[in-house]
Amino acid sequence: MSEMENRMDRTPIAVLVSGGGTNLQALIDAQESGTLKSGVLRVVISANPRAFALERARKAGIEALVLPSAGFEQALAEALEAREIDMIILAGFMRILSAEFTSRWPRRILNIHPALIPSFCGQGYYGLKVHEAALARGVKVTGATVHYVNEIPDGGEIILQKPVEVLPGDTPEVLQRRVMEQAEWILLPQAAELVAAELAAKGEQNR
Ligand code: GRF
Repeated sequence: MSEMENRMDRTPIAVLVSGGGTNLQALIDAQESGTLKSGVLRVVISANPRAFALERARKAGIEALVLPSAGFEQALAEALEAREIDMIILAGFMRILSAEFTSRWPRRILNIHPALIPSFCGQGYYGLKVHEAALARGVKVTGATVHYVNEIPDGGEIILQKPVEVLPGDTPEVLQRRVMEQAEWILLPQAAELVAAELAAKGEQNR
């Protein structure tokens, strides 16, 4: 197969972000090193024009798109359609997508959560709150989970998980950083490749 045909078979991916975008950076690095090879990061989308993640996208030569907060999902659906996106990755995306939206993308939306689901997950568990809750409960092991997104917050089928040790004296910030370094930044590119490969194979069958 020629390089050209090979490229055409890659699953086009949109990444939705709200903040700093270190998980997006892990995806960009994976694409550049070739570990993410069955998918291609085509667009990075945010409702927050100040999200540093957008800067990371531009720097990597990936389109960075800001959509209005009001009417976000409608604008999102149109943007995805126009770019022929087949897969969505939520990488630190702070909004909850409606059941109407997620039902149109079954097993095509991935999210990364900074705990071992079903612990410390669901409505209200985001950002540092997750790690505060883990420390308050006194767990000795936490971690990260990549899962499919459905209508239940953090409730979709689990794709990959990775445990991380909680150490004496941990603060929420220290624990958050360890979970990112030892789990999130490794797990998200792995899961992205897994799902992109599956979708690329599916696309091939339908051709
Ligand atoms: C990560 O901890 C992720 O698990 C959670 O939000 C945080 C985003 O961080 N969903 P970043 O924007 O990728 O740096």
